[in-house]
Amino acid sequence: MTGFENSFATEARVGTLPIVRNSPQRAPSGLYAEQLSGTAFTAPRSANKRTWFYRIRPSVLHGRGFKLVDRALVRTAPCHDETTLPLGQMRWQPIPMPTEPTTFLSGLRTITTGGDANLQVGMASHVYLANQSMGDDYFYNADGELLIVPQENTIDVFTECGRLEAAPGEIVLVPRGMKFKVDLPNGPARGYICENYGHYFTLPERGPIGANCLANPRDFLTPVAAFEDKERPCRLFVKSQGRFYVTELAQSPLDVVAWHGNFAPCKYDLRRFSPVGSVLFDHPDPSIYTVLTAPSYSAGTANVDFVIFPERWIVMENSFRPPWFHMNVMTEFMGLIYGVYDAKPEGFKPGGMSLHNALTPHGPDAEAFEKASQRELKPERLSGTMAFMFETRYPLSPTGYASELDTIDERYAECWDDLRRYYPAEETK
Ligand code: FE2
Repeated sequence: MTGFENSFATEARVGTLPIVRNSPQRAPSGLYAEQLSGTAFTAPRSANKRTWFYRIRPSVLHGRGFKLVDRALVRTAPCHDETTLPLGQMRWQPIPMPTEPTTFLSGLRTITTGGDANLQVGMASHVYLANQSMGDDYFYNADGELLIVPQENTIDVFTECGRLEAAPGEIVLVPRGMKFKVDLPNGPARGYICENYGHYFTLPERGPIGANCLANPRDFLTPVAAFEDKERPCRLFVKSQGRFYVTELAQSPLDVVAWHGNFAPCKYDLRRFSPVGSVLFDHPDPSIYTVLTAPSYSAGTANVDFVIFPERWIVMENSFRPPWFHMNVMTEFMGLIYGVYDAKPEGFKPGGMSLHNALTPHGPDAEAFEKASQRELKPERLSGTMAFMFETRYPLSPTGYASELDTIDERYAECWDDLRRYYPAEETK
């Protein structure tokens, strides 16, 4: 079903979605009616999110008997004191696939956290590395919504609302509190996740751009109802306040036969983003490529923006075309899904990551600077590339895991060593 933040109505079996009432005396086909509230009941209409499920069993039968389990490599903000890294620009090469059996859930590794999940501000960046389907394991995250960015191979995300398949170049948004599992139809998979503790991701205002371009609502896809009627032992994991819990179930919790509402997962193909850019000189701030924004309480200052650097034409005259040298009060976590990133053609690999925390200087490497300053400025097409950024107002702390990763690029800052002085000497007497 197409559209972003629409109110949808869908049934996997004809006649299972009640008409007129949300909660009839007896829901059709012996199903239970249950509301999932994604916002306070009284949130303004423009922000209010809720979905009505019509399911084989209510969630109270899937939400008891939780036991605390090891949180493994997943961290939740606040988590400031794990890092052993000095202040500075950070970069990681891709993390290799595990050799032991690992699912999307057991393969979650937190790279950075910022803000405070209990205060509903900030975010975490994670990677997932998986070589096995979750099968009979299920998960929901009470601490935030999940923006999943596949980088290698396809994932099949089966949620209470239905199924979404996403390949590299596509993203999936899973609402806070929605049960799901991730299976691997084509083998091992890797990707990035932004866990957003704050206001839900929404489409950015377009301002003077007008009514079209950037991410267009009709390109977002929400699944039709689909369910599992699986009466065999399953496990449900929950992350709540940074802790992990598990409970044993006698059946699958993905038993929603019909639903209606506006609190639902969606997917989006980043190649459908219509980039808007400079057509004469200079280039706009990277916010021009914002796909989704999670606002904070200060207008224009995001809890987190999801920004991409897609294929595009570069045509500016007499301009330094790559991203410029920069210090930013916002914090920038970047990843590369595929291709080459124009500011770091060599050292930034697909599956890698970089972190430029608040007010950490960064910019093109010496070689990129040299080339971009000298080259003849013809129209140029950046092809076959897709980088992204999670940009947040909250400084991000690397986890202990990220600080000790073998793939950390300890020589990253040397990429600027060869930036030499050009200005002629004026010796001060
Ligand atoms: Fe930047």
